[in-house]
Amino acid sequence: MIDDDLLSSVSSYYTSKITQYGCTPKGVDWNGIKGQDLRFEQLKKVIQGKDFFSINDLGCGYGALFQYLIKHYEDFSYQGTDVSAAMVSEAIGMNYGERAKFKKSSNLVRIADYSVASGVFNVKLDQSNETWGKFVLSVLDDLNNSSRIGFAFNCLTSYSDIERMKDNLYYANCLEYFDLCKKRYSRNVSLMHDYDLYEFTIIVRKF
Ligand SMILES: C[S@@+](CC[C@H](N)C(=O)[O-])C[C@H]1O[C@@H](n2cnc3c(N)ncnc32)[C@H](O)[C@@H]1O
Repeated sequence: MIDDDLLSSVSSYYTSKITQYGCTPKGVDWNGIKGQDLRFEQLKKVIQGKDFFSINDLGCGYGALFQYLIKHYEDFSYQGTDVSAAMVSEAIGMNYGERAKFKKSSNLVRIADYSVASGVFNVKLDQSNETWGKFVLSVLDDLNNSSRIGFAFNCLTSYSDIERMKDNLYYANCLEYFDLCKKRYSRNVSLMHDYDLYEFTIIVRKF
């Protein structure tokens, strides 16, 4: 498990972003809306059909995924959780309505049909890859335990150009995570590494 000090450093990092840039992609440390939406487009593939579903969003920021989902689905319930109190307060301030709930937490707080996590694994600050990898695993277990049908997450890729890589970021080996998900969670796993960002998305379907 990751310790409280690290979680509070991660929280401070993102709190400073939302304080500086407000409810915009930069406020959650993305470059722009195009990349943010492209990530959601991958994660959304975990959702099957158009009927009512429930979804958890770990590391929800100001709730941009909710904004994205209402453009594509009519009937769903959404629970966002975020380690940063400032993020949650901004998300609540967006007044998304009854369907969207937000809570400050580094864990998921309910079982839903699906769970997703976008950008949660990227900024490791000064943690070693080994320590961060253990944290990623504990979060994946949480996603799995909180999802009835499936879950999806993204990570920066170890296939990034070396000259662009930064020490405070975590670059995951997609093959290792694919293997881990197959062996630990389900036989039905998709790996997507074809959407022109320096990252990949994995979808785990339970059936
Ligand atoms: C890169 S931002 C992405 C926000 C949102 N998912 C989006 O795509 O717009 C990552 C978010 O995850 C939150 N976060 C980071 N680590 C977390 C953790 N362990 N538990 C919950 N939230 C976390 C941060 O506070 C931040 O709001």
